[in-house]
Amino acid sequence: MKILIAYYSETGNTEKVARAIQEEVADGHDVRLCKISEITADDLKDYGLVFLGAPCHGSDLAPPLKKFLEALPQSPRFKLAGFFTHATYAPDEHTGGKEIFAEWAGKCIASFESPCGEKQIEFLGYFHCMGAPSPPIEKFIRGKVISSEEEWRSYMSEVRTRPDSKDLQNARTFARTIISKL
Ligand SMILES: Cc1cc2nc3c(=O)[nH]c(=O)nc-3n(C[C@H](O)[C@H](O)[C@H](O)COP(=O)(O)O)c2cc1C
Repeated sequence: MKILIAYYSETGNTEKVARAIQEEVADGHDVRLCKISEITADDLKDYGLVFLGAPCHGSDLAPPLKKFLEALPQSPRFKLAGFFTHATYAPDEHTGGKEIFAEWAGKCIASFESPCGEKQIEFLGYFHCMGAPSPPIEKFIRGKVISSEEEWRSYMSEVRTRPDSKDLQNARTFARTIISKL
């Protein structure tokens, strides 16, 4: 099967996830990995499965991927899967993580699901994990989101190395699960 993995990534976190997915699905499939900026929605017609990914920006998928999803065709042949990285805690990794995730990354999942629902695109699932913030975003979080020094130290020790090898292993498991749904 022809599989496309296309991503937007500013500081490399989402790209790492895209590469882990590529490594997992490469065996036995014809796989192309590229940046979202290198393709148009029309190019997707050649593929049976498309993975699209981006970082979370402003609690939602980053604009380049949002725009790309909006441009997808009606009832295409390809099936879709999504992935994203975010600086906020994942829902199951922190006390109160569900609420924190909902506030800081809560629109990402609907931004995959809504266009797929509207356009009869079969959406097979999504993967997400934490990704270390860039220095300006780190400064924003330190100033506006986390005020206590203790919480900040704990947060930074958690996020600094993400996505880590466990995240990338989880991304590979996700990719296998998606393939098994075909
Ligand atoms: C402009 C901007 C806005 C961001 N907004 C959020 C946000 O609302 N919630 C969040 O969890 N992370 C946010 N982040 C952090 C990124 O989603 C996170 O660090 C991600 O892993 C970066 O991925 P990349 O290296 O592929 O660009 C933001 C980052 C940038 C640059």
